[in-house]
Amino acid sequence: MDRHVKTINTLEKEHNLPVEDLACLISDDRPEITRAISKAADRVRSKYVGNEVHLRGLIEFSNYCYNTCLYCGLRGANRSIERFRMTPAEIIETAKEAAKLGLKTIVLQSGEDKFYPIEVLCSVAEEIKKLDVAVTLSIGELTTKEYTNLKITGADRFLLRIETTDPELYKRLHPGMSIENRKRCLYDLKDLGYEVGTGCLVGLPGQTPLMLAKDLKFFKELDADMIGIGPFISCPGTPLEDETGGSVQLALKMIALTRLMLPDINIPATTALAAKDGEGYKKGLECGANVIMPNMGKNEYKELYKIYPGKGSVEMSIRTRLDTIKKLIISEGRVVGKGRGDHIKNH
Ligand code: 5AD
Repeated sequence: MDRHVKTINTLEKEHNLPVEDLACLISDDRPEITRAISKAADRVRSKYVGNEVHLRGLIEFSNYCYNTCLYCGLRGANRSIERFRMTPAEIIETAKEAAKLGLKTIVLQSGEDKFYPIEVLCSVAEEIKKLDVAVTLSIGELTTKEYTNLKITGADRFLLRIETTDPELYKRLHPGMSIENRKRCLYDLKDLGYEVGTGCLVGLPGQTPLMLAKDLKFFKELDADMIGIGPFISCPGTPLEDETGGSVQLALKMIALTRLMLPDINIPATTALAAKDGEGYKKGLECGANVIMPNMGKNEYKELYKIYPGKGSVEMSIRTRLDTIKKLIISEGRVVGKGRGDHIKNH
């Protein structure tokens, strides 16, 4: 038997591998190996989290950011994009509409905008909780106290990608930030009882298979509840605008390997996959993903939230967007999740 096929079998059974073996699987780009990894991930997904695909209603409420991550279109230094902020009332109204459409999780995402006082964000979370939905925040690095207050007032989950675990690469891409603080945030969130989502970018300039393998090990070590992975897409107006960007194939392989490493967690078929590939959601669902995060914002805001190009360019009503996604789920032989889709530990 091919050595790699044996390694994949071990991973499917034991949900772990030495970092060197993971790196070998990542760097082997033979189609049969990639296919074997996807198939194994699909079996593990079916066994541990079943056929339900959970929908998370995403509300991108501010595209202001004081950070300057080299890859991101929202970086503070990018003067070429128009900025917007939704008012707290508008955020709550949008959440109500999403809940009415049957969404059981509301994700509030923004750039690292210091405009909204934490008490205001707490009261927004508290109001949205009244809609009988899970509240997920994705608003960046905060103090332990701030995370505590947000948890007390009702936030259930938090998304904060590590982006890359390689200290050097992290430093190069995130001026003025530190990987130590990023990790502090993630472990704080875990300690506070949030369901914690993290993840990485795939295909960053200078990123190696070993670095990606270490990302997988980190997800496991953190005991993450959710992992979001997407290809890096080069974005105009950023220092990395002339880079090639990551491949959908490699991002899918990382998603599949994540499913094999953490069999029962929630894994989205990410927007970046869909932005790069018309069949991105479908392909994600076929190699381990069990979540999709439809955008619930008005088109005018969606268009301004330019993390990378190709995102939010399709003019469609929210209802149509949702119906298209539901049809895809059904055509894949899966079912639209009815509950909150919490992380249920079962391994
Ligand atoms: N391409 C793909 N994903 C990106 N993100 C930021 N910039 C880009 C880009 N150019 C991702 C980051 C962040 C998430 C909200 O969007 O991983 O955590």
